[in-house]
Amino acid sequence: MPGEIQILHGPNLNLLGIREPEIYGCATLEAVDTMVAREAAALGLRVRSRQSNHEGVIVDLIQEARTWALGIVLNPGALTHYSLAVRDAVAGVGLPVVEVHLSNVHARESFRRRSVIAPVCVGQVCGFGPYSYVLGLRALANHLKQHRDD
Ligand code: DQA
Repeated sequence: MPGEIQILHGPNLNLLGIREPEIYGCATLEAVDTMVAREAAALGLRVRSRQSNHEGVIVDLIQEARTWALGIVLNPGALTHYSLAVRDAVAGVGLPVVEVHLSNVHARESFRRRSVIAPVCVGQVCGFGPYSYVLGLRALANHLKQHRDD
């Protein structure tokens, strides 16, 4: 049975493909999930992908992942910049979490430069469009391999 990873997309990521394509590109969320699932298979992993526009649902999904996932690839959307509830959930479950963003949040408005979640994550990947998720998954797989016996 391959290990399973939770892929979590926060608010407004359901609009990928039509939302500000000059920033976020033309790929739909479904296309991103397909790309990530393919990469997971190549890494000997499986993924479950979920999206929610609601902070509390994201918190619930992070908590639930504790019971079945090896780790989480999380794009918190705008919650990145202010959600202490998501940060506490990440810190609380003790799973390795990699924060990902399609856009380079450091090259945009100043409020996007701050992530309240990144400090409790293994690391952050941003700026590579949908490929940020692939890189995030690879980084998580590598982290899991290195910490297998912990
Ligand atoms: C985003 C960046 C956030 O600042 C923004 O609020 C999003 C998407 C990204 O993937 O680039 O919703 O997380």
